[in-house]
This record gives sequence, C-alpha cells and structure tokens, in this order.
Amino acid sequence: MIQKYTFGAPFETDAVVALIPAASGTPAFGNFSADHGFSFAYDLSPDHKVYGLGEANRGIDKRGYVYVSCCSDDPIHTEDKHSLYGAHNFIIVSGGSDAPGRPSSDSFGLFFDYPGTMTFDIGYSHRDLLTVSCDKPDLYLYMITGEDPYDIVRQFRRIIGKSYIPPKFAFGYGQSRWGYTVPDDFRKVADQHREHDIPLDMIYMDIEYMDHYKDFTVDPQNFPDFPAFVNEMKQRDIRLIPIIDAGVKVEPGYQIYEEGVEKGYFCKREDGTEFEACVWPGMTHFPDFLNHQARKWFGDQYKFLLDAGIEGFWNDMNEPAIFFSAEGEAEIRAWMEKILQGELSFHSFDFSDRSKTLANRPEDYCRFYHDVNGKRVRHDQVHNLYGANMSRAAGEAFVRLVPDKRILMFSRASYIGMHRYSGIWTGDNMSWWSHILLNLKMLPSLNMCGFLYIGADLGGFGCDATEDLMLRWLALGVFTPLMRNHSAAGTREQEFYQFDHPEDFRHVIQVRYRLIPYLYSEYLKAAQNDDLMFKPLAFVYSQDRIACGIEDQLILGNETMIAPIYTQNAIGRPVYLPEEMMLVKFLPDGTLYQEIMPAGHHFIEVALNEVPLFIRKDRKIPLVKAANRVSALDMETLIYIGYPDALYELVED
Ligand code: GLC
Repeated sequence: MIQKYTFGAPFETDAVVALIPAASGTPAFGNFSADHGFSFAYDLSPDHKVYGLGEANRGIDKRGYVYVSCCSDDPIHTEDKHSLYGAHNFIIVSGGSDAPGRPSSDSFGLFFDYPGTMTFDIGYSHRDLLTVSCDKPDLYLYMITGEDPYDIVRQFRRIIGKSYIPPKFAFGYGQSRWGYTVPDDFRKVADQHREHDIPLDMIYMDIEYMDHYKDFTVDPQNFPDFPAFVNEMKQRDIRLIPIIDAGVKVEPGYQIYEEGVEKGYFCKREDGTEFEACVWPGMTHFPDFLNHQARKWFGDQYKFLLDAGIEGFWNDMNEPAIFFSAEGEAEIRAWMEKILQGELSFHSFDFSDRSKTLANRPEDYCRFYHDVNGKRVRHDQVHNLYGANMSRAAGEAFVRLVPDKRILMFSRASYIGMHRYSGIWTGDNMSWWSHILLNLKMLPSLNMCGFLYIGADLGGFGCDATEDLMLRWLALGVFTPLMRNHSAAGTREQEFYQFDHPEDFRHVIQVRYRLIPYLYSEYLKAAQNDDLMFKPLAFVYSQDRIACGIEDQLILGNETMIAPIYTQNAIGRPVYLPEEMMLVKFLPDGTLYQEIMPAGHHFIEVALNEVPLFIRKDRKIPLVKAANRVSALDMETLIYIGYPDALYELVED
C-alpha cells in the first residue's frame, strides 16, 4: 500500500508518475514535524536494517552513518564522505522478518520527494534513531508498506515509471580515458583491441574532442570531417561516445551561447543577468534545465552529434560542478586580504579549508535562479534536479529526433525520475581496492531507486591502477550493465594492452561477451517488471540471518550470485552459500570449472585471470561463444550451464 502525504507547497519534481491519491490521517510510522523545516524521526530496534539511498557511500544496510542528499562534484570518495554525485531520497526501513516475533508490518519504505539538501541520519547521532530532515517544510512523502523490503521496493518502482533501456551494443565493453585527443588516439585504441583480439564496442570521447570545450562542437583541426570519422569507426563496429558538459562557454559568436542568451535560457542572478561560473571551458553559463523551453532547446542541440552518426552520450559536470565564480573568488580574496592585513587571525588548516571551498561553494548555489513556468526558484532549493533534467532534456529530445532508435546515455548527477531517461556512472572514483567493494555495494541500492544501467569507472579514475587491481575489478565489471574502463589524465595508462598480460584481459572481457544474452535478458526483465537486477542476499534469503548480513555477495538476475574479490594478493575469498549452488569458474583457456557446493561457509580459490560465478540450485543460464563485438555474437552457439533440468526464460528484443 502506498500513501502520499503533502507537507507545505512541494516543488513538482516529476519523480513519481503514478497518480496516488492524498492519504488521510497521519502516517503510520514515525513522528513528523513541519514546524521548523521538516523532520521525520523513527526509533530503530537493534535488528532494523535500512536500505536504499541509491548512489551513496558505505554499506547496503545504510545504518550507522549520516548521508546528505546533495549532488556533489567530489572525487575523493573516502568513508567519511556524506554526499556523492546522486541524490536518491528513497529508504526502506526493514524490521527484519528474520527476527522472531516481529510483525512484518514493521517494514516500510519512504520516498521524500524534495529537491533541496536533505539529511538522512541513520543511527549516526544515536544508534537507535533514524531522522530525516531538511530546511523547508515543502515536500511530498510517500509511505509504502508491504510484505517485506523487496515487495516495498517493487511497489516503489511501479510508481516512478519504467527504467531506461539502452541499445544492446551498450552491453559491450567500452574503453575511455581523459586525454584521447586526435583521431589517431582513437584509432590506436581500436587497433590495439582488435590486434589483441580483445572485444570492444565503444570508445568514449572525453572533453578534448570539442573545440575549446564548447558543447556540441568538435575541434575543427583534429576532426575536419567528423561524420566521416564516426563512420570510419562504425565500419569497425565501434561507436564513439562523446561527453557533454552542462556549462555552455561564454564566448561571443558561439552560436549556442548567443542563442541561449537571446532566448533567456540560462540561469540568472537575482538582478536578471546570466550567472557565470568557471568550468572546463573557462567562464560558462548554466542552461536552465528546469525551464521546459530551455530543456527542449538544449535537447535539440544533441541533433548536431546524432546527425554525425553518434549513438551515445555521457552527461557530465551536471551537479552543476563549479570551479569558481567571480563572486566566490572575490569573497575568498577579501578574506585573504583581511588575514594579510592582520585583521583576522587564522590557523593554517583553516586557510586550506576555506580556499578549498572556492569550488562548488554552497554560496554559489544560492546566487542563481531558475524560471519554472514563470516562477523564479533559487537554485539551492532545487539543486538535486539539475543533472537529472539535463539528461531529461536529452532523453526527451531523442524521442523527438530519433524516435525509432535507442540512444546510449548516462549521467553523473541524478535524482529519482532520471532513471526513465538515462543510466548513471558513479563518477570519479580511485584505483583503490576499497572502491571495488563500494562499486559492488551501490549496485542493489541504485536498482532500488530505478537505476538499472549503471557502472563505475573500472580500474579507477584517479590514482594509478595495477594489473591485479584492474583484473579483479573487471571480474566485477563483467556483470555490471555499463562496463567501461575510464581514467584521468596524468594517471598510469590502464588500457589492457598497457599491462604485461593482455591475454588475461582478453579472457575476462570474453567472459563478459559470453554472458551478454543472460545479462541483457535479466536487464530487460528487471526493466519490464520494475524489478532489481542486483539484489542483496537479504531480499532473497530473508529467513537466513547470516545471508541477511552479507554485503559482499549479490544475487544477479534470478539465477546467479556474484562474489567478487576485492582485496590485493588474495588467492580467493570466503563465500557463504545460503543454499546449495554451483560454482562456475571461467578459466583462461576458455573452459569452465563447475562444482556443486553445499549450503554453508566455504573458501573459494580464484586466480587473477579467472571469473567466478555461482548458479543457484535448480537454475541455469545461457552462454554463447565470445565475439569481439556485440553485433557478432552468434545465438546459434547458445548453450546452457547450471542445473540441466532447470528452465530459463530468455528475453530478447
Ligand atoms: C570529470 C568527469 C570525468 C572526466 C573529466 C574530464 O571529472 O567525472 O569522467 O574524465 O571530468 O572531462
């Protein structure tokens, strides 16, 4: 059952598409206050778990920390961080149906449809207290009760609309790096993959392809005939996937800038002038994605690249990221001058903290406004909708411009609702072992919030990757819908052919391609049935106390369980099987190791160049022969592995 409560005068975010009548009475769980801002409080018992929050730090069970929904351009995802790039305000409080004597009605879901900053203190200030709060008492609250957390999630998914489905090639492998600039950089990537017989479907174009980082331009020197270059790659069955940044360069004569100013489609300061902030191109204006006309206008700009043969995009810097604004710079300058004049005393750590806030200053987000159907709304109050509406602009445009085609798209910033238009990549992570685990833990949480086409920068964006980290991370990436290796300029090059054993990478990527029929089928089922592709063990084995606490193994689809290795120099890992399962190891010679293992605790050995997968009892999965591109996969080679008498419904389109 879903009940909708209205507090104050909420902003219409369009996150929920189903019509839910207003509930009468007071919500069944927790205490609410809308006197000073808004707050919700609920007493947690020791066995309560709290799921959800999509792209957020820490565990699958979010209990024990404080999370702040505020789309943030922060690349250092250490354990102490409260905000990442996405803002997904859906949680499920699970009474733990495994707890004897507890009624199952003790579980409920909450979606706080509020686009400003929102704080989820989930047993941080007090271990036994959940509080959710925000400054303005204007929001919709959806309270969902159901049989168990899994049922609650599926009810929620039904009211937010169907998840985005990408084209099939998007299930192939994509190579990316910030720094590919000239056509030969891209040709080299293509050549090397083909020469080493490593499957490849996409090469990503980072900001260097543009003319001075101007959206919807290409560098005329490097790409004098861009459509021809796109076509050259397509002849090799490789799609080029360009990045699009949110900020539009301020440059007289640049058509998009001129048009945006003329039509009033950029966000404005209080005095009505266009707000300016420095991002990659230098000073930029931010398109007003919350204004439906501006959204249409910006979406239409993608035509330039679609016409050149482009079939996929990644939308970036759309929190929006701000390196600095003139106002912010002036404030910092004034502060520093006071220190230099001796008017202010300071500590060196204070100095470094203040100067850091030049980028993405909260003050800057209060300096510009949106025009929402003629009403002026200050950005900070709707901050978490900005990136989501950039992708919505594009998604709506694709329906108009290329109605018969699916376009690949994923975004960095997001809000629930964007899942209908786009996928997500989880932004600038690091080549850290802990980030393999963080990647794993985010998958089910993102699915709970509707995001199915998801993935992390495999191998890590910042810092230097090692061959073993890359291999272990890929053995997880094999299963994520978005499988992309991306890294930052200046870091160690991490294309597979840069390492000593390209043949190991060939093998791992081939495993991915062998599994595409299964992954695609499970993806389509999840999208069509408002289901999860990745489930915590607790959602499937809710009566098993041990399984309910496991966070480094996931149920993938309905047939398999994954248990990746995320520690360096490990020869394998402990695994808990809630029921009998078949361990399958994809061995580097292309053969399979298969062993039926009884329920219980095990230690499995997995070499660096092997990919482990468990098939659940009485299930089987399809497998094809590998090919070096998705379009070359041959369904005639399809076999099934697992329990031979099982049935499997293969969904294709
Ligand atoms: C941002 C993106 C990253 C990209 C870089 C340059 O940091 O998150 O993926 O490579 O900008 O465009």
